[in-house]
Amino acid sequence: MYSWKAVIVLVLPFISGGHCQARERVLPNLPYGPDAEQLLDLHLPSDDTIRWTKVIVVLHGGAWGMGKKEDVNPDVASLRARLPDYVIANMDYRLGTRESPGFPKQLDDIQLALTFLKASFPSTTLSFTFFGVSAGAHLAMLYSYAWDRGIGDAKVVVSYVGPVDFTDPAYCGVILYRPIIEPLLGSENNCQEYPDTWNVTSPLTYASTESPPTIGFYGNLDILVPNSQMVRFEEKMFELGVPHEFTRYPGGHGDWGEINMNDMWTKIAAFAELYS
Ligand SMILES: *[C@@H]1O[C@H](CO)[C@@H](O)[C@H](O)[C@H]1NC(C)=O
Repeated sequence: MYSWKAVIVLVLPFISGGHCQARERVLPNLPYGPDAEQLLDLHLPSDDTIRWTKVIVVLHGGAWGMGKKEDVNPDVASLRARLPDYVIANMDYRLGTRESPGFPKQLDDIQLALTFLKASFPSTTLSFTFFGVSAGAHLAMLYSYAWDRGIGDAKVVVSYVGPVDFTDPAYCGVILYRPIIEPLLGSENNCQEYPDTWNVTSPLTYASTESPPTIGFYGNLDILVPNSQMVRFEEKMFELGVPHEFTRYPGGHGDWGEINMNDMWTKIAAFAELYS
């Protein structure tokens, strides 16, 4: 239905042809579902002599209610530079509001995007790496640990400052986080009143021995994602025996300076190559 194959045949000669060889091929705004917000940009490897089997699904941040895929184009470029043979699918998802919260519709969107990607590469078994930023990382982890359980599409999950456990006392009951989390949980944004909602939207609730290898990056001065998050995360992954690697950089909610960012991208690429 939403196959890009027809698109690629028509468009590719114009975007890849001629003098500009290293230019990346991008198929922008492919509809993976019927909603106007269900669009993804497909970044194709420039080498089409090899079989493409590895896909990175990129999820932008913005506290579940804001942001768009274009915000993370620099991150896509950093991934592309280190992982030239991966297909990169940078997806929008339906933004959450108090009246129409992100949970669970944003997880459904990820599922729909995977169905679209599988249909687009029909004779290949795709190996999916999820890369999410902040709220996007939360969705990537919740999808990989809960929705994907027993399915196994997710081979690697990358959390770039993603919240992982809302039952953490550093989140639960702290008034600062209520408006931030509202686009995800709607009116159930009060942890004391709705402990179950906060529990079932926490990726760590579903982490199991079957969870995919996980790599995460956090800032030691991050106010949006308290330091205790990575501690709980690391303990749980260790206890379960899930391959994991966590790094804490000096600074806030991402963007920790050129040296640290280079270190992060290098670590992500090595981890993806190892497990995807
Ligand atoms: C959280 O949810 C999980 C999965 O539904 C359940 O097994 C667990 O008991 C819940 N924990 C709490 C504290 O409610």
